[in-house]
Formats: sequence, C-alpha cells, structure tokens
Amino acid sequence: KRRVGVLTAGGDSPGLNAAIRGFGKAAVGHHDMEVVGFRDGIRGLAENRFVVLDSVSLSGILTTGGTILGTSRDKPHKMRVDDEIVDMVPTIVDNYEKDALAALVCIGGGGTAKNALRLAKAGLNIIHLPKTIDNDIAHTETSFGFSTALGIATDAIDRLHSTAHSHHRIIVVETMGHKAGWLALGAGIAGGADIILLPEIPYTIDSVAASIQERAARGHNFSVVAIAEGARDIQRTADLAAAQALIRSTDNPEAKAAAKSHLNAVIAAHRSNAFDLAEALEAATGLESRVTVLGYVQRGGTPDAQDRLLGTLLGGAGAGLVAEGHFGVTVAAQGQAAVPVPLEDVAGNLKTVPLDHPWLLAARHVGTCMGD
Ligand code: F6P
Repeated sequence: KRRVGVLTAGGDSPGLNAAIRGFGKAAVGHHDMEVVGFRDGIRGLAENRFVVLDSVSLSGILTTGGTILGTSRDKPHKMRVDDEIVDMVPTIVDNYEKDALAALVCIGGGGTAKNALRLAKAGLNIIHLPKTIDNDIAHTETSFGFSTALGIATDAIDRLHSTAHSHHRIIVVETMGHKAGWLALGAGIAGGADIILLPEIPYTIDSVAASIQERAARGHNFSVVAIAEGARDIQRTADLAAAQALIRSTDNPEAKAAAKSHLNAVIAAHRSNAFDLAEALEAATGLESRVTVLGYVQRGGTPDAQDRLLGTLLGGAGAGLVAEGHFGVTVAAQGQAAVPVPLEDVAGNLKTVPLDHPWLLAARHVGTCMGD
C-alpha cells in the first residue's frame, strides 16, 4: 500500500477538516492507500509526530471547525528549535524517507504554498490544497474557509447596523484578510456597509468623512465603515512604500538592518488602523464613533455548505492526483472543477482585488464610498 502524509498549516480555517476527510476517505477507501496525519503543521513533520488516519478517525469531522491535526506557522527552512533558528529541510527529507511516504499533502494558504514548493524542490512529492479565509491564493477562484468567514463577517455587519442606527454612531468594523480586501469587500457589500476600505485602494480620511457628512445631510446620522485589516490611508501607504524602498536601495548589511528596523517601526505605528480612523472620523464629523475588530471569530466554528463542498472536492481531487503521480501542484478551484496548477505559479503570488473586479464596480454602483 502506498503511504501518504497530510498536514494542515497556517491559520485555522473552516473547511480544514472537510478537506482532511475528503482527501483521506478518497485515499483510503477509493485508492487503497494508507494515510498518516502530521500534528501541528510543518513542526510535526520536522519532529515526525503523526497519527494514522483511518475510516474511523476520518468520520464525524465534516462539520467541525479548526483542524483535528493541529496547526502552526512554522517554516521548514527557518524553524525555532531550542532558541535557535534551524533549517529543518534535511530532517524533513529524512523523515519522509524513513516513514516511506509516497507523497505529502499540505493543506494551507499562501505561506504553506511557499513552504510546499520548498519541500517539492527538496525532492518530496507534494500536493497543496488551498485554504484561507483571506481568499488570496493565486489561480484558485475560492479557497475553502472564505465562504464561512464571509458569512460570519456579513452577519456581524448586519448586527452592528442596529447599534449604529439606534445610537447615531459611526461604527468601524475591521475584518481580517491579510493584504487582500476580499473579505471586507464581500462582507461590506453583502452587509450594506456605507464605506468599504481595502488594502488595494489607499483611502483619505477627508473623503471618508465627507461621505459620512453627506449621509448625515440626507438624514442618515449613522454610518458603518467596513475596513480590511490591511487597508491604509494614503499617507501610511506612502510611508510603507518609502521604508520598503530604503531596504531595497542598499546591499550594505548594517544599512539594510537599520532600514528593516525602520520598516518595523513604521508597521508597528500602523497597527491600530481602525481605531485611528474612528478617532479621526469622530473629530471630523462630530458623530460618536466605535470600533469592532472581528478577529478570530471569522475563522472559528462550523464550515458552511460551500466550504464543506470545496474541502471535499479539492481533497478528493488531491487523492486522485496522488494516485496518478501528478505532484508539485496546488489543487485550484476553477468553476466547478478542481484543476492542478504548478506550485511555482502559486507560491509567492498574492491574489489581491483587481481594481476592475465586478464586486468593486457593484459596490460603487450602489453608492458605497471606497475612500479614494
Ligand atoms: O491568513 C488568515 C489570517 O486570519 C489573516 O486574515 C490574518 O492576517 C492572520 O491570519 C492572523 O494570523 P494569526 O493567526 O497568526 O494571528
């Protein structure tokens, strides 16, 4: 029997267990393979901690949140071990051979795609399944986790409307999404946010304040602002770009280190984006302002129907690719199909919201202020 490993890495996300099950049941039941699950992502792989996944352990997990295998954000080539940063790729290759694995299925987001490519280049037979609530993985229309997070964020915006309306307040609601605006844009449109701010469109506080004042002049003395965690105002966007350019401009190690610590300081100063915005809007409009950061609520709990479907579809397709010996790919969702795309085309290739995306146009058409 061929023995195949599976792991989940990066942030937890609804649909991970559906994908483990989708892959595992197809591999065990349909392709007659043995499946082992590594604990805690890349860390468990490096430490060779795994459990056998059989039809019993793969049952009853379709609807559960999180991941039965545990996860971590470790990188194979830079892992903290006893207070040192160690390249664990050779150890991982040894474990893979010792465990007699025919392939390894890595379920995760953009960071996992990069790690998976690194392991593929080290000689492992890798399949990557795209999971993330951020929906920022290139070549896949949707990653599992996104649909559930979109529903949760939309529901939150619906509920925040009650308070904004009743108290005549501005409510700034921050969604996750890393450097992409998919979640804020989707939930902002579906939840009817008055203003939506994305990383892809640097905003000005003046234009946001003007839009709130226009609404007030029309008798709507409240506003809901959906802001992606990665959104920045124009000044901050320029500060970040300048700090990054400084790093690129020098090869001198000391100057580079100084430029990097400057960048870190700029990033640290940007952390409370939603709170800074709410304060500025209160000062500019005279309307009381509040902030709600949705945070990990967006990632937790049972996956919706769409994410269960997608996890099952991509997981099953991943098992089929292992059976065919087709490796070094992400199993991308394109239309109703699961399509293998070379990892080289996916890793490090962030899918942000294109400025002509239909969702963006739809938001503008219903009069949503995008802050620009
Ligand atoms: O990638 C998923 C995500 O939830 C992002 O939206 C967010 O930026 C990040 O993970 C948070 O990471 P952590 O779990 O390490 O706090």
